[in-house]
Amino acid sequence: MKFIPKEVIKIINKYHVKKSKLLAVLTDIQAKYNWLPPDAIKLVSEKLCVPLIDVYGVASFYHAFSLTPRGKHIVTVCSGTACHVRGAPIILDRVQDQLGISPGCTTKDDQFTLETVNCLGACALAPIVVVDGHYHGQSTTQKIDLVLTKYKKKKKRKPTKKSRKKK
Ligand code: FES
Repeated sequence: MKFIPKEVIKIINKYHVKKSKLLAVLTDIQAKYNWLPPDAIKLVSEKLCVPLIDVYGVASFYHAFSLTPRGKHIVTVCSGTACHVRGAPIILDRVQDQLGISPGCTTKDDQFTLETVNCLGACALAPIVVVDGHYHGQSTTQKIDLVLTKYKKKKKRKPTKKSRKKK
């Protein structure tokens, strides 16, 4: 999605241009664009009178924020010890093959970003893959194929008359 200054100003105004609402402002921008575009960060810095370095400090501290463009769907493969010994490397290979990208990358169509994490704190469910916040425990390559296929189909699905009316 293209950065539009007016949209970011609207978010800043929603929080009454308060410095103390920096985190909320960045959260909303992240939700809107799926990342924090540099121009948006600069605008936030200017409008809230917070030094640019401090805005970047907050943006880079929290894992929820991304300073690089991310796909519509975030696929996270846990590669912590428990997941590793239960097959995470095989799962990761399959996800890479399915999406055609390496960890840290986004597909050309901006649909998927692949990430790895060291432990999700749910080792009993190892190996785990998380897609858009949904945990898929005791994953196998077959299960992951089905999950990714479902998300790929979501992209291709054309709007029905019913869904068009809702807008
Ligand atoms: S190692 Fe994967 S959840 Fe802990």
